[in-house]
Amino acid sequence: VSKVISKQEQQKMVNVAHRGASGHAPENTMEAFQKGFEMKADYIEIDVQMTKDGELVVIHDTTVDRTTNGTGKVGDLTFEEIRQLDAGSWFSEDYAGEKVPTFEEVLDAFRGKVGILIELKAPELYPGMEEKVADALIERNMDISNNGKVIIQSFNHESMKKSKELLPNLSHGVLAGASWANVTEEQLSQFAAYADYFNPNMNIVTDELVSDVHEAGMKIYPYTSRSQEQALRLFDLNVDGIITDYTEHVYYHPVKNK
Ligand code: G3P
Ligand code: CA
Repeated sequence: VSKVISKQEQQKMVNVAHRGASGHAPENTMEAFQKGFEMKADYIEIDVQMTKDGELVVIHDTTVDRTTNGTGKVGDLTFEEIRQLDAGSWFSEDYAGEKVPTFEEVLDAFRGKVGILIELKAPELYPGMEEKVADALIERNMDISNNGKVIIQSFNHESMKKSKELLPNLSHGVLAGASWANVTEEQLSQFAAYADYFNPNMNIVTDELVSDVHEAGMKIYPYTSRSQEQALRLFDLNVDGIITDYTEHVYYHPVKNK
């Protein structure tokens, strides 16, 4: 079987740098976001949580243990405590001293340069988080027109309903883990009442799912591609975007002859 992805197909595929260019730099750091931008991703994906004292910070896990030199829950630590941590050394000594970024820092550094796919991570742990995210966007006039460069998504669908009410002009996305493999057309149309994207675990993506999502009027950006083969499979399935740790897999894939 020979598989050739045309230039045109490459160009229209939306390339999302998952937690920044996280295959190349420590996830959810300014370095990873900068690298995603330099590699010409269409969007950087960021995971937003809240500290004990109410600061929005960008980190994936609900504890700092894996990606910093500290320990404890994000929500039990103050911003000052989190800011002292090293968020780069776990990945490579080349990144020693990288900090956990704030949400506002990421907005200020990258808005207008690259799209930002904002994931509200575990918002059920952080009451008032949707309002804080909305305030930060409104302060910067980033809520006014939906120019497609900001998307807000979450596995917590109630949180997305709430966020859509606060930010009606912005696109929202429903994240769907593997347990949504048998999502019905009815459920998709309910999501479409407030969401523009249905972004599933890539392992549940089939031709049928892609056409059902399109039928419901939404787009589909599966997560998380970590190999060239996985990206090529998603191209074949005609998804709208690919959330990947390796930006280069979506732009510079080789012609495959098997
Ligand atoms: O953007 C979707 C993807 O990031 C969801 O999974 O665990 O990497 O946040 P996770
Ligand atoms: Ca994420």
